[in-house]
Amino acid sequence: MRQRAKMADVLSLPSLLSARVAEVAGVDPELRPATRPQFGHFQTNVALRLANAAGRPPREIAAELVAKIAVADLCEPLEIAGPGFINLRIKADVLARVANEVLADPWAGIARVEQPQTVVIDYSSPNVAKQMHVGHLRSTIIGDCFTRVLRIQGHTVVPQNHIGDWGRQFGMLVEQILDEGLAVAALDLPGAEALYQRANTHLKESEEFADRARERVVKLQSGDAETLAIWQQLIDVSLAGFNATYARMNVLLTNADLAGESLYNADLPVVAEDLEARGIAKVDDGALVVFVEGQATPAIIRNAAGGFGYTCTDLAAIRYRIGKLAANRLIYVVGSPQEYHFQQVFAVARLAGYLPESVTAEFVGFGQVLGADGKKFSTREGTAVTLNSLLDAAEEQAAPSIALAAIKYADLSSGLQKDYTFDAERMVGTHGDTGPYLQYAHARANRILVKADAEGIAYGEIGTLTEPAEHQVALLLSRFGEAVAAVGETLQPHRLCGYLYELATALSVFYEQCPVLTSEGEVRASRLALCAATKKVLASGLDLLGIEAPERM
Ligand code: ARG
Repeated sequence: MRQRAKMADVLSLPSLLSARVAEVAGVDPELRPATRPQFGHFQTNVALRLANAAGRPPREIAAELVAKIAVADLCEPLEIAGPGFINLRIKADVLARVANEVLADPWAGIARVEQPQTVVIDYSSPNVAKQMHVGHLRSTIIGDCFTRVLRIQGHTVVPQNHIGDWGRQFGMLVEQILDEGLAVAALDLPGAEALYQRANTHLKESEEFADRARERVVKLQSGDAETLAIWQQLIDVSLAGFNATYARMNVLLTNADLAGESLYNADLPVVAEDLEARGIAKVDDGALVVFVEGQATPAIIRNAAGGFGYTCTDLAAIRYRIGKLAANRLIYVVGSPQEYHFQQVFAVARLAGYLPESVTAEFVGFGQVLGADGKKFSTREGTAVTLNSLLDAAEEQAAPSIALAAIKYADLSSGLQKDYTFDAERMVGTHGDTGPYLQYAHARANRILVKADAEGIAYGEIGTLTEPAEHQVALLLSRFGEAVAAVGETLQPHRLCGYLYELATALSVFYEQCPVLTSEGEVRASRLALCAATKKVLASGLDLLGIEAPERM
């Protein structure tokens, strides 16, 4: 059967080739990038696996497959290597086609999903009257990346910034404000945090104050106007601080994404009543709890004092996200210490039918940020490091856009579960697997293009690609879509980071081995165009990580 690959298909060469091989082999060929240039571009061990099952010589099977696999439009004649591996080498003209497609539109290789979902992502979620700390930094960066990737794939993403804007702490905060006669609106976020600390100390020292704080909580809950007004001011002050940090971090979150704990107040008694009425929750030692099989402690829906806490709020949030926001997929980006909490919430929500089987719920935890001493990063006083001070520390080493790239990339490029060491000096380096290295690769490609332009050298299409280093770059360009899809599916941003690093590295090998500006004619035009295509993919990929791609560095 004669086949001719459609234009867009060449932008997912591995899946295209896999499908063609599978048609003949009957199983997934598990195509891998070739380990050495002499083995072509991709390799499969499918003949060895089939031979094993059939008890026949692998090279014989390989020869049979090679005779039938219809890839002449894409590959050079297939080769059989060693014990029976099949090597595939993409034709140079196909690689040129790939690069031209990418040059025309770097997003072309990103498949819009067939069934777009509504994905609700819970991230950032700092607490009112407290500065964001490193945990919120990671959540914000990772969640921002998911939002960008899932949106480009065609999903509807609804970020939910589940800020801590309700709870007992507001009793002492409001009392302290009234005691001090403080003008809350004039505070900034660090000022509000200092107030928090004064209130906390006061609470520990004075019974009388503690009593007043408790009464104030009741007033807040019953909607007392003066109390609510002060509460709102605290929120406004905090939001101003959060938003300043978001702007500094160049993330997509806006006030429209705010869905703080207080949003669910009205639903909390409804949830408790519903769970109790259906026998899912029961009263135990005065508290309303749900026992979940396999979990050591029960989920507390309402405590013995009648208060609803964190767990009940998250159950109400699930009802809202599925009922009102019509989510098909729930993602929570929160530090690993809260994994148990979410397992419990998901389990109870499934039991109660708030979370139907058709909706997936994923907890994406992440490790800690460590200081140079290998211990949890904290201030000299032993308190959590604020997010802003981390940004400051990185900016002491580099310009803001580079410092930010350094932090974001460090955050996203190793497995999320792993702790990572905050080593500002290493992170801002333009050598090795860093964000600034990728920015630099982008700026360097740009510099060549600008120079060519200044010299009046035009480039249009990629015509001929003769050198292996050029082939490698073009091949990688064809894999951008695959890398993005992997992040959308597995929620592991390091898949995209690793891809971009490979691309940047291939680009620098290409410069070393293939003169660009000093070559001539069609070769020069092709090479310039290849630089331009690669520059576009680097910029697009960095954008999905939330990292700026400066033109100059
Ligand atoms: N405010 C919490 C914290 O700072 C994080 C909230 C995470 N999201 C949630 N739905 N519970 O630890």
